[in-house]
Amino acid sequence: MTTAVKRVGILTAGGDAPGLNAVIRGFGKTAINHYGMELIGFRDGIKGLVENHYVDLDGAALSGILTTGGTILGTSRDKVHKYIVNGEPQNMVPTVQENLEKLKIDALVMLGGGGTAKNAKQLMDAGVNVVSLPKTIDNDIAYTDTSFGFATALEIATDAIDRLHSTAHSHHRIILAEIMGHRAGWLSLGSGIAGGADIVLIPEIPYSVDSITDTIKARIARGSTFSVVAVAEGARDSKDAADYQAARLLVDAAKTPEAHRAAKTHLANVADAQREHTFKLARELEAATGLESRVTILGYVQRGGIPCAEDRILATRLGTAAADLVKAGEFGILVAARGQGTEAVPLQQVAGKVKLVPTDHDWIKTARKVGTGLGD
Ligand code: F6P
Repeated sequence: MTTAVKRVGILTAGGDAPGLNAVIRGFGKTAINHYGMELIGFRDGIKGLVENHYVDLDGAALSGILTTGGTILGTSRDKVHKYIVNGEPQNMVPTVQENLEKLKIDALVMLGGGGTAKNAKQLMDAGVNVVSLPKTIDNDIAYTDTSFGFATALEIATDAIDRLHSTAHSHHRIILAEIMGHRAGWLSLGSGIAGGADIVLIPEIPYSVDSITDTIKARIARGSTFSVVAVAEGARDSKDAADYQAARLLVDAAKTPEAHRAAKTHLANVADAQREHTFKLARELEAATGLESRVTILGYVQRGGIPCAEDRILATRLGTAAADLVKAGEFGILVAARGQGTEAVPLQQVAGKVKLVPTDHDWIKTARKVGTGLGD
């Protein structure tokens, strides 16, 4: 296999994140200039693979993209084994295999998060030579120290917390900044520590409104008539967290396709009912403390724009390492960041796993030591 790879496909899947283009460039320049490979880019993630929609990527296409946000290839959240056709999920793995064969693609490089690792594993199981790279602002991919996009989002969320302090302080308000991260608290905890949030709420530690109220009242008693709260989008109070967990367990326990569908619908309803949790918390805190409360949802601002220097370096390191691994014929792997180097981790180890914040993590201990309330 070592010298066999001539033509490689690359795609970006899942939510966009800063650094995607830097990886495409790092991989592409190494693959083309050092190893003499040809590179094509599939459009819009899995969609392009299924619908055979691609572009040739040559030196010119890879030039000037190191610093740009988003992805030059486009992206989508489609799943290869549950691709929606006329409203119904279908397994498109055989179609993808056919397309790759017709295009004479020897290896496929997939840039994405947890969902993409699962897609990559499906293709690997069908015999496709896949290499996956860890992209997400959430930092929740297992078996990698970090993922590209996270450092930039951390800077943006920290800057937002810094700026929100001005209004919180001047108007004597509680400001809740809702921060992305899916079901993981890395982004909220990191930016909360860096921005000096008074309270940080993460999914890994279900909160109690009483505990948050106590923290804010103690601050008022010390003369601080404002508070900034970093709220992870996945953070919940103890009751909501238990309801959500119970609904998830029902999905895992479902034995028939019908039971699975019903459990998924129930889970979606529970999640829907909890969607406005940050606004609900703001109302509760206003009533309990007498301080006016406001919510700022940071949203897509956190994933937009140029990658920071740290992400550019990480993306370039991972991209070039991935090209080396493709050249060496190492497939079925995630190119993980490990210290200042990289490590090839088997996809079967990574797919389906999520890296949450361990409740004894140093960041949590650090936050507690400086008096940050964690809502528990
Ligand atoms: O995984 C990245 C992320 O931005 C999460 O933080 C967030 O929960 C999710 O994507 C939002 O996804 P979408 O853009 O599809 O709404």
